[in-house]
Amino acid sequence: MQIFLDTAEIDEIRARTAAGLVDGITTNPSLIAKSGADIFERIAEICEVISGPVSAEVVATDTQGMLSEGRRLRAIAPNVVVKLPLTRDGLAACRTFADEGVPTNVTLCFSLNQALLAAKAGATFVSPFVGRIEDMGGDGIGLLAAIREVYDQFGYETGILAASLRSALHVEEAARIGCDAATLPPKIFDSMVAHPLTDAGLKAFLEDWNKTGRGGLG
Ligand code: G3P
Repeated sequence: MQIFLDTAEIDEIRARTAAGLVDGITTNPSLIAKSGADIFERIAEICEVISGPVSAEVVATDTQGMLSEGRRLRAIAPNVVVKLPLTRDGLAACRTFADEGVPTNVTLCFSLNQALLAAKAGATFVSPFVGRIEDMGGDGIGLLAAIREVYDQFGYETGILAASLRSALHVEEAARIGCDAATLPPKIFDSMVAHPLTDAGLKAFLEDWNKTGRGGLG
């Protein structure tokens, strides 16, 4: 499963790329606004750090506007993925981009029908928002499973990008379902590696070793 960071903070991205575990980045208008950066400059900076997919979202709401903004975003770097809202206009823009070979991420997906339409429109990725569905009392993980089932049934190649994830457990559930990618805030990415028994075990190993007085393995 590909792991994307859901952030527009360049320092947070730089701090997490060393181990090669981050496959891409997703941003949205809220994250770009929060960063205070110019969207074109920030996406260019991110694309210098990450060679995998970098989702940059349009803010136009009509198809022509989305196509125009998407083309400007796409011109920043070859790994830019144009993020489009799951609306009628967004799906029309998605179809045009698919026909042109431009990668897309159709976002704000909250139902199986929406995911089905995104696949039919030729989306590269569809982003179901797990956490926001759960915030409303719905079954976000169940939606991921339903999309996986239907995409496999009909052979749709659209990648399922689990989004709006709120915990490390959400990441595990997305992986078990067979999502193609998951995007997570940096703090959830950090929590994937942490386990109290790892920390306690390492502490005990090193205490035992230090008692021997042998020092490092240099
Ligand atoms: O970027 C899309 C999605 O991951 C947003 O998540 O936490 O704002 O619901 P959230």
